[in-house]
Amino acid sequence: MINSDKIYDQSPPPQDFRREVLTGLTSEKKWLSPKLFYDAKGSKLFEEITRLEEYYPSRTEKWILDNYFREICSLFAEDSMLVELGAGDSSKTEQIIAQCNKISCYMPIDISKVTLADSLSKYRKKFPNLKIIPVCADYTKNLVLPYYKHSGNLGLFFLGSTIGNFEPHEAGDFLKECSEILDGRDFFIIGVDLKKDKETLEKAYNDSEEVTAKFNLNLITRIRHELNSDIEEDDFYHKAVYNEREGRIEMYLIAKRSFTVDISGSRVDFYEGEKVHTENSYKYSVDQFTDICKSSGLKKEKVFTDSESKFALFVLRTEKSN
Ligand code: AVJ
Repeated sequence: MINSDKIYDQSPPPQDFRREVLTGLTSEKKWLSPKLFYDAKGSKLFEEITRLEEYYPSRTEKWILDNYFREICSLFAEDSMLVELGAGDSSKTEQIIAQCNKISCYMPIDISKVTLADSLSKYRKKFPNLKIIPVCADYTKNLVLPYYKHSGNLGLFFLGSTIGNFEPHEAGDFLKECSEILDGRDFFIIGVDLKKDKETLEKAYNDSEEVTAKFNLNLITRIRHELNSDIEEDDFYHKAVYNEREGRIEMYLIAKRSFTVDISGSRVDFYEGEKVHTENSYKYSVDQFTDICKSSGLKKEKVFTDSESKFALFVLRTEKSN
C-alpha cells in the first residue's frame, strides 16, 4: 500500500491511460507517449538506467551539479523553496538539499505516486527540519503548485534532460508556462543533453545489459496489466536510433510477427516489423537551446557544462520585471 495522505494528488485518472494507449495504437503510425513509461516498475528500471556506464547523462549532470554547487546554492535567498519537476526518486537534488541550508521547503513533482511516496518517507527521516510537499501530477498539463508561505525565492529545477522529450516548439511553450510561476527573484535550472557523436548516443540508449530494452518493453506489460490485454512483451523488440537530421534519439518497439491483440475491448492489429514510436529524446547545441529560452521569455544567466561538453545546466531568469 502507498501511504499517500501527504501527497497532493493531481495524478491523471486511469481512463487517461486507456485513451492515450488506444489513440496511439490505432493511429496510422503507431506511437505511445514516453510519460507512460513511469509506472512503479518503469520508474525502477529508469533508476537502473541512470546507473549504467553507457548512460552518460545522469552522472555528467551529477558532476556538474556537484562541481558548481556553491554557485547554485548562492542563487537561493534565505527561507527559499526548491520545486523539482520530474523529481523521480529525488536523487538529482539530494546533495543541494542536504548542503544548502537556505532551502526550507522542497516540492518534488512527479507522475509516479509510488516513487514520490518512497522518497517522501526517506526524506522525512534524513531531513527532519525540511518542509516537504510532494505533488503527484502530469506537469505537462496546467500545473498548479500548492501554496507555501516563505520569505525567500523559488528555485525551479527541471533536470535529467527530460525537456528533450518535448518537440522543440512544445519545449518553448512549456518553458513559457514554467516562466509564469517565476518572479524577478526566482531562477530556473534546466538540464539539457547536448549534441554529440552518433555512436556515444546510440550506446546510451542500447546498453549492453539491455536495461533500456526492458524499460521500453515494460510499457507493453503495463498495457497488459492495466488494460486487461493479451498483448505480450515477447512479441516485440527494442530499438533506439539517432536521427541526425532531427537531432534526436528515437525509440521504438518493433513487432516480431503479425498478430492481433485485445486492449480493453478493442482489437488492435500489428504486422511483422511494424514500429511503435515510444520516445524522442532531443539533443541540443547550447546556441539552439539558448534560442528556445529567449523565445519563451527566459534570460540565460549562466550555462554550466562538463569538460567534454556532453551535458549542460542552464540557469535562467524571467524577463518579467516584477
Ligand atoms: C528521462 C527522458 C531524460 O531521454 O534520456 C533513458 C529517458 N529513455 N533511456 C532520456 C530514457 C531511454 C530519458 N529522459
